[in-house]
Amino acid sequence: MQITVAVNDVVFTREVEPRLLLIHFLRDELGLTGSHWGCDTSNCGACVVWMDELPVKSCTVLAAMADGRRVLTVEGLERNGRLDPVQEGFARCHGLQCGFCTPGMMLTARWLLDHHPDPTPGQIREALSGQVCRCTGYENIVRSVQWAAQHHGGDGRGGHRSAPEEAG
Ligand code: FES
Ligand code: FES
Repeated sequence: MQITVAVNDVVFTREVEPRLLLIHFLRDELGLTGSHWGCDTSNCGACVVWMDELPVKSCTVLAAMADGRRVLTVEGLERNGRLDPVQEGFARCHGLQCGFCTPGMMLTARWLLDHHPDPTPGQIREALSGQVCRCTGYENIVRSVQWAAQHHGGDGRGGHRSAPEEAG
């Protein structure tokens, strides 16, 4: 079947098998390997992307379900050569070690700050509770999101994106 999806503000049209998962569409069809495939059982959250304005686990979404929708991956967080405050917070506060969980963590954090610009540590932990990190113990992840909140992280960059362009 043919699907058309706006990924990081670029419109792609592709022929896909109806059973293809969104995570594999992003990684294998579009070459966007920032989204990670960690468990295939909807447990780890490494595959989180946005579909329209909501974070979803892309290993539990069919690519066909994204037809006509907008998808945001970690590659789309940086805007005009500037890191998103969430990305900067993770870098400054050592919010990652191996980095496998990090793209999903950052996309969920971006959504949280768009809706709760000044979250408490408890709200950050609750928002990230569907995602697993094997390395950090979560303390620095929470600090990273707090840093982003304190440095214009809630300015809505993730939620107010430009009109999609056609892919070449
Ligand atoms: S790969 Fe999707 S939740 Fe683990
Ligand atoms: S940084 Fe390694 S799994 Fe989170």
